[in-house]
Amino acid sequence: MKNILNAPFMEEMIRTTTNMYAHGWDERNGGNISMLLDEAEVKEYLDTDQVIRSIPTGFSAPELDGKYFLVTGTGKYFKNVQYAPDVNLGIVRIADCGGTAELLWGYTDGGKFTSEFPAHMMSHVSRLAVDPANRIIMHCHPDNLLAMTYVHSLDEREFTRTLWQMETECIVVFPEGVNVLPWMLCGTNEIGEATAEKMKTARLVVWAQHGIYGAGKDLDETFGLIETAEKAAGIYMKIAHLPIRQTITDDMLHQLEERFGVKGREGYLD
Ligand code: 13P
Ligand code: ZN
Repeated sequence: MKNILNAPFMEEMIRTTTNMYAHGWDERNGGNISMLLDEAEVKEYLDTDQVIRSIPTGFSAPELDGKYFLVTGTGKYFKNVQYAPDVNLGIVRIADCGGTAELLWGYTDGGKFTSEFPAHMMSHVSRLAVDPANRIIMHCHPDNLLAMTYVHSLDEREFTRTLWQMETECIVVFPEGVNVLPWMLCGTNEIGEATAEKMKTARLVVWAQHGIYGAGKDLDETFGLIETAEKAAGIYMKIAHLPIRQTITDDMLHQLEERFGVKGREGYLD
């Protein structure tokens, strides 16, 4: 058996949680990540017949049975993952139609997966149906996107158009736009279901007055998606109170669509 701490997925997870903390997106225990793992790869590092604990999830997601996930622990700090990955992270296999997570590695202090496990697992179901290459669901609390949800309309078309106008690259990076949920109680199956529904049409879902969810094929791509939206929100928060003298027009956005071979969300551009 190879040492799991040297597995590429583990190193990438440690690098990413450390980087997200450094960006200020994950204060205290804020934020959580789940990464879908390849069974054959897991078997290089773990005896998958050795279940340490079976943890009830409280929801159903039959599509995920038999799938393996590396998941951040509830109450754990991203800044500490690099120093004690086995305490702050866990590897689980989903069973019983989504109702059980079989712990195969990690959470060594008796902990368990993030309280946002329903939103993560239900979002994986949504994204895998759109794109089988989707492996990552990432949640965090970036300042500017969060700030924007206090002062900007939460209408998805308006929110998306503002972000697209704040930085030329935005429409190229997230042409489908961002979806937005109003404030809801976090950690519940209800917000999980609502997030998963929004994940059917976009890889970014803003949780008003809370944070953002991103989805993607790997940690770099998903991080970059959130990073780009957060950068745009930062420009917005810098200029929103100033007289605007020029902007990125719909004509310019159409030029970007053509140049980069992307198509903005239907009906979002005039
Ligand atoms: P967890 O510590 O349970 O992952 O919760 C953090 C968080 O961001 C809740 O939305
Ligand atoms: Zn959160």
